[in-house]
Amino acid sequence: MNNATLIKEIKHLKKDRKAIILAHYYQPPEVQDIADVVGDSYKLSVTASQTDAKTIVFCGVHFMAETAKILSPEKTVLLPAADAGCPMADTITHEQLKTYKQENPERKVICYVNSTASVKALSDVCVTSSNFERVIDHFKNDPLLYVPDKNLGSYVRRAYNLDMEVWPGFCCIHNNLTLKDVDAMRKAYPDAALIVHPEAPLSVIDEADYVGGTSGLINFAKESNHAHYIVGTEKGLLHQMKKEAPDKRFTVLSEDLKCRNMKKTDLQTVYEALRDNTHEIEVEESIMKDAKKAIDLMMELSRQ
Ligand code: 13P
Ligand code: SF4
Repeated sequence: MNNATLIKEIKHLKKDRKAIILAHYYQPPEVQDIADVVGDSYKLSVTASQTDAKTIVFCGVHFMAETAKILSPEKTVLLPAADAGCPMADTITHEQLKTYKQENPERKVICYVNSTASVKALSDVCVTSSNFERVIDHFKNDPLLYVPDKNLGSYVRRAYNLDMEVWPGFCCIHNNLTLKDVDAMRKAYPDAALIVHPEAPLSVIDEADYVGGTSGLINFAKESNHAHYIVGTEKGLLHQMKKEAPDKRFTVLSEDLKCRNMKKTDLQTVYEALRDNTHEIEVEESIMKDAKKAIDLMMELSRQ
């Protein structure tokens, strides 16, 4: 089937199945364009918790669909690309965190949403790139452990002067950014603003004009008066940036900023998921209950 036919079929099936399609900003442009809601990890979680659709087709990676299932356990949650994982989420296991907690019972665990449900289940609270200020503010006087992203963790620890240990995990896409990339782009585009996701190394963050999660980066580009932005995050975000700020120019900080897992979804896999009800996400009951507590607390603190 060609793309036009696939889009028509997806729209039909979506209506029949009373489904909603959610897509992360890093998804391929054609997937973002057929979604009902495009957003960052936090916005997509909130949407999943509030929708009255019967089926959620989650165009993103596994931890995102898993979070949607935890927030809407009575719904069918489908991940079109069955093997779309997040290598960062896999840098810590349930057993490793359990051992750490036994050895450090005084430390509260702050868990980046880019983690498995079984790691969330052992955590006190979850956090995303868009709400860490509000969540951390609530825990700032406690001894803490942040899992699993060492870059976001180090950035937050320094910004708030926290007693916080940081797990040595990282995103293999953002962590590859270097000062060499920054220097080359600054030289090529001296008038552009450098905007960077906090999963980048601190050395790169320190050079940025703005640091924020995916929705923060879009909002900054829309609201600030620079004409050109060098964007230090996964290149899928540029699609939405160009849509929301069509009169501005965007250049990716490095051509290597491409998350292979985010690009596993395409129109064909979305169509097949809706047609065959494939790749349904299930989460074990006991894990679901504990993970939900950590996600619910994040949501509550984010609203304050
Ligand atoms: P956001 O929460 O900023 O959308 O980030 C998700 C992600 O996977 C970043 O690599
Ligand atoms: Fe995971 Fe990095 Fe891909 Fe985000 S960009 S989904 S953190 S591997």
